[in-house]
Amino acid sequence: MEFSRAASDPARAAFVRPPAPPPQERPLSAFATLRLLRRNPIETWTRAHFEQPILIGRTILGPIAVVSDPAAIRRVLVDNAANYRKDALQKRLLGESLCDGLLEVEGEAWRAQRRALAPLFTPRAVAAFAGVMAEAAAALVARWRRLPEGRRFDVQPEIAGATLDILGRTLFSDGLGRDASAFTRPLTDFFRSVGTFDPFDLLDLPDWAPRLGRRRSGKALVFFEEAVDALIARRRRLVARNPAGAPRDLLGLLLLARDPETGQGLTPAEVRANIATFIGAGHETTANAVIWSLYLLSLAPDWRRRLAAEADAALSGPADSCAARLVETRAVIEEAMRLYPPVASMSREAVEFDTLAGRRVRRGTLVVVSQWVLHRHRLLWDEPDLFDPRRFLPGAREKIDRFAYLPLGAGPRVCVGGAFALQEAAILLAHIVRDFALETPRGHAPKPVQRVTLRPDGGLPMILRRR
Ligand code: HEM
Repeated sequence: MEFSRAASDPARAAFVRPPAPPPQERPLSAFATLRLLRRNPIETWTRAHFEQPILIGRTILGPIAVVSDPAAIRRVLVDNAANYRKDALQKRLLGESLCDGLLEVEGEAWRAQRRALAPLFTPRAVAAFAGVMAEAAAALVARWRRLPEGRRFDVQPEIAGATLDILGRTLFSDGLGRDASAFTRPLTDFFRSVGTFDPFDLLDLPDWAPRLGRRRSGKALVFFEEAVDALIARRRRLVARNPAGAPRDLLGLLLLARDPETGQGLTPAEVRANIATFIGAGHETTANAVIWSLYLLSLAPDWRRRLAAEADAALSGPADSCAARLVETRAVIEEAMRLYPPVASMSREAVEFDTLAGRRVRRGTLVVVSQWVLHRHRLLWDEPDLFDPRRFLPGAREKIDRFAYLPLGAGPRVCVGGAFALQEAAILLAHIVRDFALETPRGHAPKPVQRVTLRPDGGLPMILRRR
């Protein structure tokens, strides 16, 4: 793990270089790759990946192209997107509960769902959730205020709890209908198992071959599906009784959603899968953006003070426009997502052969865009390993190539909840820094580990200090 305050560029001498596993000096053996993929996929990247625009090779996964050239990424995700479908490995990782949801469906079914769901996440719809997000953030801060000064605690489950709380409030504004902790525990168990690389997945064994983690999560999945079905049934009864009084939360919008071209609504299975998708895709990702921001701020007290001053001013105005006032807060979150991208890689399978960055890519090749690599690429960033939120302040932000920075993906399959996530992260972070100056315990350097999302291994201990 590399961690130091030193910087080669004197202008950035005061900036921190937060921990990151050093790249491998040369490619690993098949066995070592398999072992590391299960333990921590970001540790498999070699120095060449961070220095070359494209690397094509053969691995135990078959032919693989790791693409970090922005123009080539644009070709994969936008210009020739029809040639790149979501690959089987990714689908196996996410599991069957999400298979009817927007993240996993393909072709016409995806187009119809995307058209139907886009109105849930327009800037106006997202701004309308700002008040609820602020309430959840205030509840978190109020709980922390009751803790003694100097208390060491793990912020990871605290923030993950807050983002789950926000999803609960924005999905089901009339409550979960049962003890929330009875709901969230099996949910957390289930999502913990989703996204762990299983050797059977990597070896491409058929779907009926048992997966250890998957079996453990089976009970939690049944509970989750039953609980969501009960919430949907309760809402349908409410709407039947009093259509005008139905809450305008995400569930209400999902039930009303229609494909504008065909007038078709979602099937019950699609509604359920999209609830699971929003929770699965939107809960830990957003939490990790906030968690890494808090960690980085603890290393850069000057930025923490700037954000606290910004929060003092911005949070006093109307809630629905406060995210627009949190300019420096957003720059810190964006820099945190550059250094620690919550989604650390995306992959596609080439349907037909193509040429990327001047190299021939064969049909069937697994094309990987790794945000972990891309966001620290030597050809694309100045001092890539340093924490410098100025990169994302207005004036500098516009100069970043659209395809060099992809925390939310790009093209037709760009994250549908991106604006929701950025607003939520900004509101949570602003509420926290307005009241607290969290510190990292002396000598502690969190290790980033990729499990679908990129999180600090074993949580993130911090010390509570009131501002
Ligand atoms: C900081 C938080 C988030 C990050 C970093 C993130 C990242 C991403 C990325 C990289 C993709 C594209 C994947 C690909 O092309 O293979 C994606 C897609 C998606 N995200 Fe997010 N996401 C976040 C929050 C959310 C939230 C809050 C929601 C919903 C409430 C959400 C729902 C989705 C869905 C449904 C898709 C699939 C879109 C499609 O295929 O049409 N995400 N996300």
